[in-house]
Amino acid sequence: MSSTRTSTRAPAVEAHQLIKTYPGDVTALNGMDVTVEPGTVFGLLGPNGAGKSTTVKILTTLARPDSGTATVAGHDVMRHPDRVRRAIGVVAQNSGADPTATGRENLQLQGRLYGLKGAALTERVDELLDRFSLADAAGRPVKGYSGGMRRRLDVALGLVHRPEVLFLDEPTTGLDPEARTAMWDEIGRLAGEEGLTILLTTHYLEEADRLAERIAIVDRGRVVVEGTPDSLKGELRGDAVHLELREAVGDAGRTLLRSTLVGLPGVHEVLVDGRRVSARADDGAAAMPVLLAAFERVGVGVAAATVARPSLDDVYLRYAGRRYSEADADSAEQLAVAVAGGAR
Ligand SMILES: Nc1ncnc2c1ncn2[C@@H]1O[C@H](COP(=O)(O)OP(=O)(O)O)[C@@H](O)[C@H]1O
Ligand SMILES: [Mg+2]
Repeated sequence: MSSTRTSTRAPAVEAHQLIKTYPGDVTALNGMDVTVEPGTVFGLLGPNGAGKSTTVKILTTLARPDSGTATVAGHDVMRHPDRVRRAIGVVAQNSGADPTATGRENLQLQGRLYGLKGAALTERVDELLDRFSLADAAGRPVKGYSGGMRRRLDVALGLVHRPEVLFLDEPTTGLDPEARTAMWDEIGRLAGEEGLTILLTTHYLEEADRLAERIAIVDRGRVVVEGTPDSLKGELRGDAVHLELREAVGDAGRTLLRSTLVGLPGVHEVLVDGRRVSARADDGAAAMPVLLAAFERVGVGVAAATVARPSLDDVYLRYAGRRYSEADADSAEQLAVAVAGGAR
């Protein structure tokens, strides 16, 4: 990250205390704050249902908050939505391309919507087709495209009018690993472009780590922690130790385990959760035999143990108070319940 990126210009995106509730008493946003410096890639990272898409919808003028304020490219999203729309490109979570039209036709239509015509339009469309490796497929209907091709077209559509700020809502969800890597390369290239600011949402920790210069971890409609990927990981001293117990411990066992482990030298931040115990250790390899001996002393069987460098997963666990995969599973469950309820 070069220091030229640290700009004194006004933020490209600034949202303050956004609140948004949906009918049925669903609190989608509960005091969301986001600031994105111009020319940087910012990642909103969170499990399904965290409020990422709702944030994007408000910032792109597709939804209104109940309260709070937001500006994008210097324009107030509620007072001047038209100005905001001209300054931004949006790649929604679900593709906006017309499946019956060809890739070229989709781009031409989008260009016309933004007032491009004639040679300028043809030139811009060709440039984008080329750039996103869609030139060969340009004359084919989009419904025959692979997932990766469709997603690349979506990004191209968002860029037709050369926006200042590009919003990418889960650009790689549902893509196979190869297409995902190709999209990462593409986003990386875009980020290098003069002045372009990118706000992307993702529920992949590794994606945020790889692409974003700053990350905000979002949980239940608000940011729980924000920083550079390295600063977030660096905040976690030492190694992450994860142990799996043979059996889940109850409340009494949890209290006993916690107090035993917290007292061990070089062991911090002990979390006992059913069959899983995680802790931070100054030196994971040295702490492991000490930890295992302690478990033996209190008569708790250990099925598996690992030591690792802290990952964003550990950062998430620390700040959201639950595991990333669980937060995701929780919201999937809620969704299933909501869908079942809706079907009645
Ligand atoms: N149109 C809507 N009507 C009712 N609830 C919604 C609507 N859109 C989103 N929600 C709810 O708001 C919460 C946040 O959703 P969303 O912003 O889509 O999260 P994310 O994009 O992080 O998965 C979820 O609980 C979701 O079910
Ligand atoms: Mg979403």
